[in-house]
Amino acid sequence: MNKKEDRPTIQMGGFGRGPGSRRGLTTLVEKPKDFKGSLWRLIAYLKPHWVKIIFTFLAAITGSIFVIISPKVMGLATTKLFEGYLLKIRQVPGAAIDFDYIFNIIAILIGLYIFNALFAYLQNYIMVGVTQQIVYELRKGISAKLIRLPLSYFDGRTHGEIMSRVTNDIDTVSNTLQQSITQFITAVVTLTGTMIMMLTISPLLSLVIFITLPLSILVTRIVARQSQKYFARQQSLLGHLNGHVEEMYTGHKIVKAFNYEKKSMAQFDKLNEQLFETGWKAQFISGIIMPLMMAIGNLSYVFVVILGGISVARGTITIGDVQAFINYSRHFTQPIVQTANIANIIQSTIAAAERVFEVFDEPEMAPDNDTLTLISKPEGNINFDHINFGYTPEKIVIKDVSIEVEKGQTIAIVGPTGAGKTTLINLLMRFYEINSGKITLDGINIHDLKRAELRSFFGMVLQDTWLFKGTIRENIAYGKEKATEEEIIEAAKMAYADHFINTLPAGYETVIDEEATNISQGQKQLLTIARAILANPPILILDEATSNVDTRTEILIQNAMLGLMEGKTSFVIAHRLSTIQGADLILVMRKGEIIEKGSHKELLEQKGFYADLYNSQFVGLNFVKTA
Ligand SMILES: Nc1ncnc2c1ncn2[C@@H]1O[C@H](COP(=O)(O)OP(=O)(O)OP(=O)(O)O)[C@@H](O)[C@H]1O
Ligand SMILES: [Mg+2]
Repeated sequence: MNKKEDRPTIQMGGFGRGPGSRRGLTTLVEKPKDFKGSLWRLIAYLKPHWVKIIFTFLAAITGSIFVIISPKVMGLATTKLFEGYLLKIRQVPGAAIDFDYIFNIIAILIGLYIFNALFAYLQNYIMVGVTQQIVYELRKGISAKLIRLPLSYFDGRTHGEIMSRVTNDIDTVSNTLQQSITQFITAVVTLTGTMIMMLTISPLLSLVIFITLPLSILVTRIVARQSQKYFARQQSLLGHLNGHVEEMYTGHKIVKAFNYEKKSMAQFDKLNEQLFETGWKAQFISGIIMPLMMAIGNLSYVFVVILGGISVARGTITIGDVQAFINYSRHFTQPIVQTANIANIIQSTIAAAERVFEVFDEPEMAPDNDTLTLISKPEGNINFDHINFGYTPEKIVIKDVSIEVEKGQTIAIVGPTGAGKTTLINLLMRFYEINSGKITLDGINIHDLKRAELRSFFGMVLQDTWLFKGTIRENIAYGKEKATEEEIIEAAKMAYADHFINTLPAGYETVIDEEATNISQGQKQLLTIARAILANPPILILDEATSNVDTRTEILIQNAMLGLMEGKTSFVIAHRLSTIQGADLILVMRKGEIIEKGSHKELLEQKGFYADLYNSQFVGLNFVKTA
């Protein structure tokens, strides 16, 4: 048997497998919601590999049989040795130990062990291949699926939750699938085989084992149930503690700013103490199990030895058989404990697989129409026709919005926070599907365009700047495949990013870390602007693109953008009204509706919401010089 099989495994609420430990007996197992259904779905993944799996089964059975017969064979050698020895003491003439026979047996045993190792190796080799293949399929499936899921799926879940399904759950499946399948077969075969061997050697001795076994199972269960209680508490406390730590570290600055350290420490201490108490109890109680089982085991051992000894003296059983029997009885409890463990492991596997399947079952975005590319390069006439939309059915955030945009126009969208400005852009890009109405691009319903094609027409600089881990060069070049060095630098210069990039020690090779904490908010915006400039798309969307840069840089960028925006349809969302006065059309949004529209001058003359907003921004702000 291979090493892994000798170790019970911890399965603690899906928290992964720990090292071999007694705690395997007292585990918290996550139960799948629909065991049967998910099991069958998982089995469907196994189906294409059936030949290999059958071979694994056979290998497992063969391997177990070797394990089962070897004590018996070993016993034969002992008997022979003992017989020769007896004859010698009785001084029977010509008596000698039959070493040839014994050497034969040793040779057979060596052969058996080699075969066993070989089969165990083969079995593992094949199963690893099969399970890795399945996990590979699952990973591929889930990654493809995540791309087809609508953004609303991600809105409703934390990154951690989604990540956990892609990584942890699939990991659990991969870790346990192989183990559970082979262990299960091995355990069952060993158990049956050992039982048969014991019965054939001596029904009387078997009786001793069969009587003490239920006793040890009973004791284990009673103790296990006790410690289960504490393990459950330990898990929940651990969750609280982790949550607390995470909160305190992600909100590190806030904690410091509000002098919350002491309170936070006190709370941590309290949780830590509770965890200590429960953890201690859980461990201690479960730690009793093994010694208890050993004690009961030893008791039966004593009986077996006494009864066996008497039988040998009476000549009803050979000494080798007693030796073999003791061997068997020692191995007997192990597969039982194992089977119990495997049942748990299988449950966790199914539960994890179920969570992966749940992702597979999520409703997808409507597939792209297979219509051919309808536009090669759009003119940029955009029409919003009575659009209604809500992220959730209960809350409509865009109400009957109609906008007509002619090619080359610059459209400004203004309005208070939460009015629905960004949402309009989300709809235009088809990040979300509208509830009713129609959006057209050059007269074509955007619904009839491929999403990828549609999005390729737009260059966006968004409210939350999106940078990825990589060098500044890579981040800028993201907008255009095969951008040359000159183009990248040119774009950075136009976006006024070149200057700050050159002040960085590594310049364009500076690696932006995952959280992009090593450059300022404004600098991030400059990089995304450079990216859009480099991509030079037919339609531009600027959502608060310059909200984080100083006013001087803002004006400089605006001038650069004016050049870029020339002849292109552009949407500009801004809170600082000074930046959008030159727009061809200003849309004033409020609570999901367009309440005013017109040019800057017209809107001021209307003396409505826009005029109020404008005037309020410029009271006492005379130092902002605008053209
Ligand atoms: N992903 C989302 N899921 C659910 N509701 C959302 C989502 N994004 C925005 N909302 C809601 O939709 C409404 C409009 O939000 P939107 O982001 O369009 O506002 P905005 O005008 O861009 O505001 P701001 O000026 O602050 O950027 C808000 O009430 C907001 O709570
Ligand atoms: Mg917004």
